[in-house]
Amino acid sequence: TITCVIMAGGKGERFWPKSRTNLPKQFLNISGNKSMIQQSIERLEKWLPIEQVFVVTNELYAELIHVQIPHLPKSNIIIEPVGRNTAPCVGLASVLIEERFPDSTMIVMPSDHIIEDADGFIKILQTAVDVAQENSNLVTLGIKPSYPETGYGYIECTNNTRVVNSFEVHKVNKFVEKPDYTTAQNYVESGNYLWNSGMFVWKNSTFQSYIKTLMPEMDDILQTIMAIKEPVERSKAIRSEFVKMPDQSVDYGIMEKAENIFVIPVSLGWDDVGSWTALDRINDKDNNGNVIKGNILNIATKNCIIESDGKLIATLGIEDLIVVDTEDVTLICTKDKAQEIKSLLKALREQK
Ligand code: GDD
Ligand code: MG
Repeated sequence: TITCVIMAGGKGERFWPKSRTNLPKQFLNISGNKSMIQQSIERLEKWLPIEQVFVVTNELYAELIHVQIPHLPKSNIIIEPVGRNTAPCVGLASVLIEERFPDSTMIVMPSDHIIEDADGFIKILQTAVDVAQENSNLVTLGIKPSYPETGYGYIECTNNTRVVNSFEVHKVNKFVEKPDYTTAQNYVESGNYLWNSGMFVWKNSTFQSYIKTLMPEMDDILQTIMAIKEPVERSKAIRSEFVKMPDQSVDYGIMEKAENIFVIPVSLGWDDVGSWTALDRINDKDNNGNVIKGNILNIATKNCIIESDGKLIATLGIEDLIVVDTEDVTLICTKDKAQEIKSLLKALREQK
């Protein structure tokens, strides 16, 4: 069986103040008229029955998922009592899914990306599944980088390449999570690196043996949880054990250290919609290069992103700014600081 796990517990802080703790980015309509998680599920349903699709999220968002995706069985919503980044999220999903679908192959993906070519995407996932099932392979999708983005992880390819179902498959040399700007520049120039899309495919059994060797403390916690079979007791165990999980991403905990990783380069109109400046790439602009949404009046305004959820925003003579007005917060930020919006949130928390 093929199953898919959608990770949907992130905070989407770089999209503040539109993305908020009680309604983060993955649940917002950022492109089109459906939320990002609704679009992710819709793409997959062309291929997999909904019973094989799982969503892992924080308990804060379980109800929201049920409201946005009412036909997703409640038993396919895996709930974390606290956020411990993506390694525990995928680890828990892996053991729970293995119990329900023994010997399954698992596709892991984020809930916060855009893919234009949905049909091409399914073909590539099928190929990734084929490569994962050959062996104890970890397979990932890589994106050809177009600029030195520091908000992504990078994957270095080796020359060991073959073709499967007409797609190139490269053996991976290494994973590097979010490098600094100069390093990212060197990577892009070298031509050997791809962006990490955050999408992974592996046999459940392969992933679990990597957890055992690379994240043994996490493995112990997962075993404790799975030893309990009675559903109510198991939920209690998840609640009490999950807090002990290491706070680690799957990229750092597993992919940076594992062997037998293969990457399939893809160009599917992928965008991770990581921060406000993503709107420049995915939305239509007016004649002055502005992306505007809501009640906006602008004169002599160039290359700005302006969004209002009610009040009129009037601008005159500004350039390269992000202006976002919500009910209780107005953000004004230069585009080159868009990746640092988290620092405002940190300062806000310290004030409280
Ligand atoms: N369930 C759950 N629990 N989901 C989580 C958690 C958690 O604790 N933390 C994050 N997620 C979800 C997010 O909602 C998102 O869908 C996905 O996991 C990835 O997390 P992000 O926080 O968005 O990661 P990132 O964008 O900084 O980096 C990752 O994605 C990039 C591509 O978009 C890394 O994999 C990078 O290497 C990669 O380039
Ligand atoms: Mg992300």
